[in-house]
Amino acid sequence: MTKRKQTFIDQCIAHADQALRTVFGEPIGSGRENPAQPASDNELSATDKAESIRLMRVNHAGEVCAQALYQGQALTARSQKTRSKMTQAAVEENDHLSWCRQRIHQLGGHTSLLNPAWYAGSLAMGAASGLLGDKWSLGFLAETETQVVKHLEGHLQRLPADDSKSHAILQQMQTDEAKHQATAIKAGGVELPVPVKKMMTLMSKIMTTATYRI
Ligand SMILES: [Fe+2]
Ligand SMILES: [Fe+2]
Repeated sequence: MTKRKQTFIDQCIAHADQALRTVFGEPIGSGRENPAQPASDNELSATDKAESIRLMRVNHAGEVCAQALYQGQALTARSQKTRSKMTQAAVEENDHLSWCRQRIHQLGGHTSLLNPAWYAGSLAMGAASGLLGDKWSLGFLAETETQVVKHLEGHLQRLPADDSKSHAILQQMQTDEAKHQATAIKAGGVELPVPVKKMMTLMSKIMTTATYRI
């Protein structure tokens, strides 16, 4: 077996492992403390608890998509520098994934049953954008993060006021996503055409609406 083939097989195994961890298992993050840890654990009404579970389920699914996008782009990114930036951001997204999942379980809820489908679709989109070249894939990433920051702003307004732990998680995620957006622009990401941005908004609307329920 040639070295090239071994490398390809190694990559496939590593990506399959990441995929399974993202959708079903324990993702490997940066080891940062969960921001919910120091936040007060207020008693929530049954209605508030159910709403927090639904919103955090959407955010968890968003992080599954983020993982898949980053992993897909890392598969096809042309430059080593871009690949390593994608991989580093994916580690931070793993923190978000773990924090959201832990909070959903604390509240007695479950993650979305649709996650395998979101993962597969986002992986394909990430790989396709990577094939267009680094400036476009970084632009796609920057636009994704811009939209996620706006989305998180909305969820911070909608979360029950007493749910301090979920608030703390979303605030830290918002800070990280803004940083990822700035990094992607700095690395050479270009502005996407308006129709592409509109299509991305529409797709995320479909994802968030479905995941809120299932
Ligand atoms: Fe994230
Ligand atoms: Fe991000």
